Amino acid sequence: MREVDKITSFSLRSRKSAPEAPRIVAVTAYDFTFARLADEIVDVLLVGDSLGMVVQGHSTTLPVTIADMAYHCRAVARGTRHAHLVADMPFMSYQASERDAIRNAGRLLVDGGAEGVKLEGGVAIASTVAKLVDLGIPVMGHVGLTPQSVHVLGGYRLQGRTDQAKESILQDALALEDAGAYAVVLEGIPAELGRLITARLKIPTIGIGAGPHCDGQVLVCSDLLGMNPEFAPKFLKKYARLDETIREALQTYRDEVREGVFPDETHSF
Ligand code: KIV
Repeated sequence: MREVDKITSFSLRSRKSAPEAPRIVAVTAYDFTFARLADEIVDVLLVGDSLGMVVQGHSTTLPVTIADMAYHCRAVARGTRHAHLVADMPFMSYQASERDAIRNAGRLLVDGGAEGVKLEGGVAIASTVAKLVDLGIPVMGHVGLTPQSVHVLGGYRLQGRTDQAKESILQDALALEDAGAYAVVLEGIPAELGRLITARLKIPTIGIGAGPHCDGQVLVCSDLLGMNPEFAPKFLKKYARLDETIREALQTYRDEVREGVFPDETHSF
């Protein structure tokens, strides 16, 4: 069997002190088939709670449960050998008590096969992060635009516009580093703030809508593959137009079945 060069929370973290190390490439994954394709290409597969929108059709991530996360994580884990596998802790699975956080994070590792968990928030959850790390659970942070706080933020809008807001996001990121997080996602902040935080932290930053200076980038798989024509925010680059490809393939299939072209002899026994 071919040896797998496995990426771990430890190896990701150590890239920060190796200036020649490549930038971290992360993408979300929610199922086995996609995970198997992406596994050898990217460094990190994130089972994001964005599955609430992408897979379940909700308008926010809030309805996603720990059972949903464990289910999708298990599927992704079966297709993952090389990439580091991290799973989001969904809304209200870690905020109410440390006990909840420990049980639910443990579930994602034990039942889901995750190798790390991602939590949204900074100073407010730093003690929970420290506890999880102490117990052997690697934690990735997530600051700036934190989608689980959409109702407090008043929508999915750029964060860190004022000096005070910039300072607060920086403090959040530093608190996560102090608590033992191995990396932190910076979402929806000005590029200059992304640069500043990346320069201040000793752990890698992974940006989404946070400019080019981060130590890595993450995108939602269906966004970068262009599966949703209505979703085109400024930060998103579509590397394919799978919406068109899928529609064309389905139309051809439909027409061939209706016209009796498929199945032909080569596809029959
Ligand atoms: O849920 C998710 O997909 C995420 C990424 C967008 C960072 O948290």
